[in-house]
Amino acid sequence: MAVELTNRTIWLTGASFGIGLELAERLLDKNNQLIVTARSETVLQKLKTDYPDQVTIIACDISDPSAADYLKAELANHVESLDTVILNAGICEYIDVTDFDMDLVDRVTQTNYLGFVRCVAAALPLLTGSRNNPHLVGVSSASAYHGLPRAEAYGTSKAAMRHFLQSLRLDVFPLGIDVSIVYPGFVDTRLTRANDFDMPFQMTTDQAVEQMIKGIEKRKKEISFPRRLIWPIRLLSMLPASLSTELGQKLVRTQG
Ligand SMILES: NC(=O)c1ccc[n+]([C@@H]2O[C@H](COP(=O)([O-])OP(=O)(O)OC[C@H]3O[C@@H](n4cnc5c(N)ncnc54)[C@H](OP(=O)(O)O)[C@@H]3O)[C@@H](O)[C@H]2O)c1
Repeated sequence: MAVELTNRTIWLTGASFGIGLELAERLLDKNNQLIVTARSETVLQKLKTDYPDQVTIIACDISDPSAADYLKAELANHVESLDTVILNAGICEYIDVTDFDMDLVDRVTQTNYLGFVRCVAAALPLLTGSRNNPHLVGVSSASAYHGLPRAEAYGTSKAAMRHFLQSLRLDVFPLGIDVSIVYPGFVDTRLTRANDFDMPFQMTTDQAVEQMIKGIEKRKKEISFPRRLIWPIRLLSMLPASLSTELGQKLVRTQG
């Protein structure tokens, strides 16, 4: 069943930059009520200035263990229910195996996996209260499909998100809540501008958000793009380990 993203009450995390900011603007143009979350309150304030009657700001660092209780209470202060929840906040850092950094793993896990789970915990009671075809959307990554070089922290956090949402989808089905998982390839944002390697088939935020909105409105369970990148990675995950390792090794950069 298709449900248009208009006149809905939506909570969007990671709305201050990149994919989330582009998505926020598109959802506001489509006349939705939007609760926006990120750490950078001043950036969120600009959205509020541009769309004063549609935006509510809940600034929060989702990597903080107290975020689940804080967000649950703040959301309940502002709305009785949520129709759509889009959990998009995330960071990316890459591992150097010659100088293994446990703090990096902790930062990525606390934001991309545990931070995301804290948001789910905060949102579930309000999604359950929606009478408007409730929908939970998580922004994972193409890297969730198979282990890629230097992605021991990032790729794992996104694969954990995927697994979590696949389980949750089964458990919230009787409650009438749909669950979608988004797997973007490379999108030109602050996050990818830090990368020092080639990023094939990179998309603009505009192109990525177009795909996301289409997929969310169609209630697709898996929303992945661009196909030219997704299919080779998915294929890698279907090959015998000896072959996928051989192909994967071609992607490993030899150090300096
Ligand atoms: N760009 C890509 O190629 C790509 C590919 C696959 C998946 N993704 C995923 O897409 C999502 C958006 O990424 P992006 O490329 O748009 O990156 P971005 O431009 O860096 O935006 C990330 C967003 O997440 C928020 N965020 C980060 N840490 C947070 C925290 N601890 N608490 C609350 N909010 C936090 C940031 O806000 P503040 O800094 O203001 O807190 C920002 O709004 C991420 O989950 C990313 O993993 C991106």
